Amino acid sequence: MLQKISDLIKEVSAYSVNNGEDLELFRLKYLSKKGIISDLFEDFRNVSVSEKKEVGQNLNQLKQSALEKYNILKSELLDKEDISDIQDLTRPSVSFGSGSRHPISIVRNEIIDIFTRIGFTVSEGPEIEDDDHVFTKLNFAPEHPARDMQDTFYVSRISSEDSSPEDILLRTHTSSVQVRVMQNQKPPIRTISPGRVFRNEAISARAHCIFHQVEGLYIDENVSFADLKQTLLFFAREMFGKETEIRLRPSYFPFTEPSAEVDVSCKICNGKGCNVCKHTGWLEILGCGMVHPNVLDSCNIDSNKYTGFAFGMGIERLTMLKYQVNDLRLYFENDIRFLDQFKTAF
Ligand code: PHE
Repeated sequence: MLQKISDLIKEVSAYSVNNGEDLELFRLKYLSKKGIISDLFEDFRNVSVSEKKEVGQNLNQLKQSALEKYNILKSELLDKEDISDIQDLTRPSVSFGSGSRHPISIVRNEIIDIFTRIGFTVSEGPEIEDDDHVFTKLNFAPEHPARDMQDTFYVSRISSEDSSPEDILLRTHTSSVQVRVMQNQKPPIRTISPGRVFRNEAISARAHCIFHQVEGLYIDENVSFADLKQTLLFFAREMFGKETEIRLRPSYFPFTEPSAEVDVSCKICNGKGCNVCKHTGWLEILGCGMVHPNVLDSCNIDSNKYTGFAFGMGIERLTMLKYQVNDLRLYFENDIRFLDQFKTAF
C-alpha cells in the first residue's frame, strides 16, 4: 500500500489539464467520494496496527498534495480562460468595447458622400506647400496680410521681409489642392478637396491652429452663379434637412469674384432665433464665389472660354452646428468620454 501511495503522489504531481473538463476528471478521479483517495481511506481500516502510523501519514500527504494540485490547476486554467463560462453556458458573454468614429470624420464622410452623389471627385494634396500654390496662383497680392507670419506657419522663408513663391509653409486652406488640379487637368473639372489646414491662431474655444476643410471647385463652359447657388442649396438640404433655406451675403476673397458667404436657416429654432444662431435665425457655414479669371489664367485655363465656381467650408464648424459642440478644443483632445458619444453615428 505504501508503494501504491507513493506512486499516486508522483502521478498527481505530474498531472496536467487543458480545460475545465479535464480538471473535473481530475477531481472525480482523486478527490470525489468515489475517488481513489477515498477508497484508500476505506482500505486504511484493514492496515495492521504496526503500519498504521506510517501509512496514515503518507495517505494524508497524498490527499494534501491532490488538493493543492487541484487548486494550482484551477488557477492556471483561470489565467488561461474563464472556466466559469464553460461551466455555465447560459451566462451572458463578456462584451467587447467597440470604438467610434471621430465626429470630424463622420461629418467629413457625410460631406464627401453628398458631393460625390452629384458627380464631384475627391482630390488630395500636400499639407506642406509652397507660397505659389497657397497664395500667388490664387491671386493674393504680394503684400496680402494672410501671408503674414502671424497667420501662416512657415517651414522655411527665403527672405524675412518679402514673400517668395518658393517659400515653404503649412497650407492655410485646401484651395492649394485645387490649384494643383487645375494645373494638371483639363476642364470640365468637378472636385472637392478635404483636408487639414493650419493657421497661426491662439487656441481657444472658437479658434484652433489646426482645423479641417472641404473646398469645392467646378469649372466648365457656361458655369454660372445660379449653378453655384443651386449646388449649395442641394448640399444644405442634404446636410441639414429638406426644409433648410440658404442665404448669400456679399463677401470678398482674392480668388473669387463675385464672392459670398452662405448662411443656412437655423435648425434649432427654425429661424425664430435662439442662442446658437445668436437670435438671427441664420448660421454661417461657408465662403464661395465665381473663380477669378486671374486664377484660371495663372493655372493655364482659358478664362475667355471657361468659368467656374468655388466654395470652402470648415468641417469643425459644420460639426459644431450638427452636434452642438461649442468648444473646438474637444475635437483635438481625444477624451474618450467625448468620443464615446458618437458611437451611434456612422
Ligand atoms: N479658401 C477660403 C478659406 O479658407 C474658403 C473659400 C474657398 C472661399 C473657395 C471662396 C471660395 O476661408
